[in-house]
Amino acid sequence: MNIKRTGRLIVFEGIDGTGKSTQLPLLAQYLESKGFMVTVTREPTDGAIGQKIRALYSSRENTTPEEELQLFLDDRKEHIEQVVGPALASGKVVLCDRYYLSTAAYQGANGFDPLEIIKRNNFAPKPDIALIFEQPIETSLERITTSRGEALNDFEQADSLKKVSAIFDMLDFPCIRRIQANDTIENIHRKVIEAVADSLEGLPVNS
Ligand code: TYD
Repeated sequence: MNIKRTGRLIVFEGIDGTGKSTQLPLLAQYLESKGFMVTVTREPTDGAIGQKIRALYSSRENTTPEEELQLFLDDRKEHIEQVVGPALASGKVVLCDRYYLSTAAYQGANGFDPLEIIKRNNFAPKPDIALIFEQPIETSLERITTSRGEALNDFEQADSLKKVSAIFDMLDFPCIRRIQANDTIENIHRKVIEAVADSLEGLPVNS
């Protein structure tokens, strides 16, 4: 899709349990306090395809890896048409919790070539900044099972999380900024602000 973009696309990536979903609203608040127009969104989405994906969380057995990958791609297409594209066209800063680097890492861990997956995302606007939140797998697992009081879902099983993490580690694109996430919420917030600051230059702000 050819989107005329005046906004910015900042995506939050990384393995589960790194606190990225805590950091995203903090960055949104900060940017709004500076007068930027912000759109907060996430993938999988809350739309029909996103809901279908969420239903897969507890059991992936009835879906082939290709069908699963296709669902994430279809969800993203719809998300871009309905939310991300219009927001970018109207000068907003779009903060998206997960985007195509998650597909590369998670569906890559499920047997696909991560770079092929990225090619299949050609239709998607490239992020200006992709924050990859990093921390040891053990910390992630502990956070998921202890702090959140959740069982691991099918996308998060320990072995596959290791593969996912290894793919995130090897991804190398100019938009990527790696954030060490085993730190305090305040310190991580500061690192996030630093990582996105340059990309915001030239954007309209309300004063
Ligand atoms: P997550 O951000 O953890 O959402 P929630 O807080 O609702 O659990 O994402 C859900 C899971 O979906 C996560 O384990 C990663 C997985 N996922 C993929 O496998 N491929 C993708 O393309 C995306 C966007 C997410």
